[in-house]
Amino acid sequence: MATVTIGLPSEIKQGERRVALTPSAVAFAIEHGHRVLVQAGAGEGAGFPDQAYAAVGATLVDDAAKVWGADVVVKVKEPQESEQAHFRPDLTLFAYLHLAAEPELTAALVSSGTRAYAFETLTDEHGLPLLAPMSEIAGRAAAIVGAAHLSAANGGSGTLAGGAAGVPPAKAVVIGLGVAGTMAARGLRGLDAHVTGVDIDLQRLFDHHLDGTVDATQVSEPELVAHHVREADVVVGAALVPGARAPVVVTEEHVRSMRPGSVVVDLAIDQGGCIATSRPTSLGAPTYVEHGVVHYCVTNVPGQFPRTASAALSAAVAPKLLRLADDVAAGRAGTPQESTVLQGALNVAEGALAHAAVADAFPDQPVREVR
Ligand SMILES: NC(=O)c1ccc[n+]([C@@H]2O[C@H](COP(=O)([O-])OP(=O)(O)OC[C@H]3O[C@@H](n4cnc5c(N)ncnc54)[C@H](O)[C@@H]3O)[C@@H](O)[C@H]2O)c1
Repeated sequence: MATVTIGLPSEIKQGERRVALTPSAVAFAIEHGHRVLVQAGAGEGAGFPDQAYAAVGATLVDDAAKVWGADVVVKVKEPQESEQAHFRPDLTLFAYLHLAAEPELTAALVSSGTRAYAFETLTDEHGLPLLAPMSEIAGRAAAIVGAAHLSAANGGSGTLAGGAAGVPPAKAVVIGLGVAGTMAARGLRGLDAHVTGVDIDLQRLFDHHLDGTVDATQVSEPELVAHHVREADVVVGAALVPGARAPVVVTEEHVRSMRPGSVVVDLAIDQGGCIATSRPTSLGAPTYVEHGVVHYCVTNVPGQFPRTASAALSAAVAPKLLRLADDVAAGRAGTPQESTVLQGALNVAEGALAHAAVADAFPDQPVREVR
């Protein structure tokens, strides 16, 4: 089998300190017969020094352009504007892309001819195996930041999540009880807040009702969600339709009805947000206040826990990356013969969109046969 060069660039998104592959995952790829170019410093923020990559046989490179010159580039976050200059027809990209919320990136990928596979739409019999590890971390983090921003010192209403003797606990509403929502609910309940879980999937509500992840469940219909949101101290947004723009479950009217100093944490912001008043924020400036409500809408929440997040992400990505590299080497990538472990991941190929939900978000872009 031909050797493929895999590039591992440093992340440049604001506050992002994760790396897509740990040294042990790089060793795995090299043992498998591939060559790996690592940008110097790529793993530093996550606790993996250059020497650790060199020790397993990676080639350390200072110049980002050289790393992006690899056959397959694997990275964490969607390419930022300056990185899009590296797109070219014989490049295969494997990363979080969240294209439904990224029209400029989508247009750049389509016009460049780059073949782009998204972590977040890769599907297996259990769900979304490359999204789940980061959703788990983001969900846990949402509980922490949601409760912390209720503090008066952080601009919140001064409500303690767990209340006190004779004083009821804070009320939290979690929209979408998938991986991120479940972990957020568990975290908030761990702080003794009262948690209502909202979903459109009745089976999921039933399961969580039985297992006690939440105190109460609510089927997701805007009019029914309205009164829970009005009463809530914290709302966590975690609703997802894979590949598509997030459904807007909490309207501006609902947010306006909330008590001043309440908090919304919209994790679904990476897919456009499921709270109408959400707009993307960064780890450097994570919040803004609208209608008196503190909004935390960071698109890369796990980026602030890079040790845990890089190890979890790399473990999930590495086996899929090897199959992708093998497919690129064999000329099967993007064809019906490519590995089934990449199912659902192909978003852009040969200058057209290749994922149904992403194509629905961009009716003006060319579409090739979607799988
Ligand atoms: N901001 C970040 O840093 C960050 C990090 C990780 C994940 N995320 C995002 O968190 C979101 C959730 O991810 P996940 O892995 O938990 O997804 P998931 O597929 O496990 O769960 C999504 C849930 O949303 C529910 N849902 C769909 N439409 C709904 C609606 N209209 N109302 C209520 N519920 C609805 C689904 O039934 C499902 O239970 C995604 O957008 C993901 O990209 C963000």
